[in-house]
Amino acid sequence: MTCPVIGFDLGHSACKLTFDAPVGVRRMLFPSIACLAQAISSPAEAERAKAETVEVGGRDWFVGDTARHQGKAATASGLNDRWVETDEFAALVELAKRRIGAAGVKGQQFWIVGLPVGSYVPHRDAVGKRMTSILGQDARVLVMQQPDAAYFAHIYTRQGGLRPGVSPTNESWAVVDVGYFTTDFVLYENGRYIESCSGRYDGVRVVAETVMRALEARGIKRTLIDIERILPVGKLRHMGEEVDVSMEIDDAFAQLFSNIFDQASRLLGDRVELLSGVLVAGGSASALATRMKAVWRHTRLVSDDHQEDCAALHGSRFIISEGYYRYGKAKQYLEGMNLATAG
Ligand SMILES: Nc1ncnc2c1ncn2[C@@H]1O[C@H](COP(=O)(O)OP(=O)(O)OP(=O)(O)O)[C@@H](O)[C@H]1O
Ligand SMILES: [Mg+2]
Repeated sequence: MTCPVIGFDLGHSACKLTFDAPVGVRRMLFPSIACLAQAISSPAEAERAKAETVEVGGRDWFVGDTARHQGKAATASGLNDRWVETDEFAALVELAKRRIGAAGVKGQQFWIVGLPVGSYVPHRDAVGKRMTSILGQDARVLVMQQPDAAYFAHIYTRQGGLRPGVSPTNESWAVVDVGYFTTDFVLYENGRYIESCSGRYDGVRVVAETVMRALEARGIKRTLIDIERILPVGKLRHMGEEVDVSMEIDDAFAQLFSNIFDQASRLLGDRVELLSGVLVAGGSASALATRMKAVWRHTRLVSDDHQEDCAALHGSRFIISEGYYRYGKAKQYLEGMNLATAG
C-alpha cells in the first residue's frame, strides 16, 4: 500500500523536508533550534509563538524561528552524537509533525530520516524508536545513512524509478555532503556501498567557530547561531555600523575545504580516477564543488529540479531530504511490484 512519503533531513543547522502534500510535492525548512518556552507579555507575539510551541516531557518548548528570536539558545541544537536522545530533538520532530499535518497530509505516512556516517550504526534503532513514539505507531519510519541520500537523489527520479541514462551497476560515485555539524563521505562502486571509503569530517561549524574567535578579537561578541546566519552574506551590523567579515569567512572556508579535500583524497585513494564522478551536496556544496573541480574535473553538484518560488526551498541544501523522499518512493514502487508479482 502506498501512502504519503516524507523525506525529513533533520540537520544540525536546519530541518529540511520534501514531502507528498495534497497539492503535489512540497518543501519546508525551519532552523534546528529548540529551547524551553518562556512567558511572552506581548499578546501578538505570544500568539505568534504558539504556532512554534510544542510539548515534550510535560514541558513547553519553543522551536525554529521562535526559539531563535525569543529563546536564549547560543548554539544550534545537537552539536554532539547523543542529541537524538534529547528533548530538543523530540521538539524538532514534533514541529515537523505539526507542520506536515497543517500542510494537509493525513492518515498513514512513510517518514525517511538519516544519521551521519559513524552515528548510523550506534543510533539508528534509537532514532527509529524515538521517531515512532512521537509520530505514532501508525507511522512507518526508515532510518538511512545521511549522505546515501545524495546518491539516491542522483540515481532515482521523483517517482521512484531509475533516472534515464543512469546504470548503477556500471557506474561508481563518491558523495561528499558538507553540512553544519559534519561533512560525510560515501562511495558507491558499481551500485555497492564501500565501507572502507566512507567516513566523516568536520562541517561548517568550524568556520563559524573561527569567525566567532576573529570577531571576539575585534571586541564583537556573537553567538554561533548569529554567525551561521551571516556566513552567506559576509557582513553584520554592530552598534549600528556595518562590519565586513568576508575575508575571515573566506579564509576559514578555504581551510575547511582544503581539509575536506585531503580527507576525501585519503578515503578514495587512487580509486578517485576510476569513478564516474564525485557528487557534492549540502548547504555549502556549490563553493566546495568549484574548488574540487579544479583537481577532480568529474566533480558535480547533484541537480535539484524542484519548482518553488522561494529560493531558500531549492538547491544543494535540499538534496538530502530529496534523496530520502526519492528512496521512499522507490521502496514503495518496488514493494508494489513484488505484491503484484506475488498476487
Ligand atoms: N546559500 C548558501 N551559501 C553558503 N552557505 C550556505 C548556504 N545555505 C546554507 N549554507 C550553510 O551551509 C551549512 C550546511 O547547511 P546544511 O543545511 O547542509 O547543514 P545541516 O544539514 O543542517 O547540518 P548536518 O548535515 O551537519 O546535520 C550551514 O552552516 C549553512 O549556513
Ligand atoms: Mg545535513
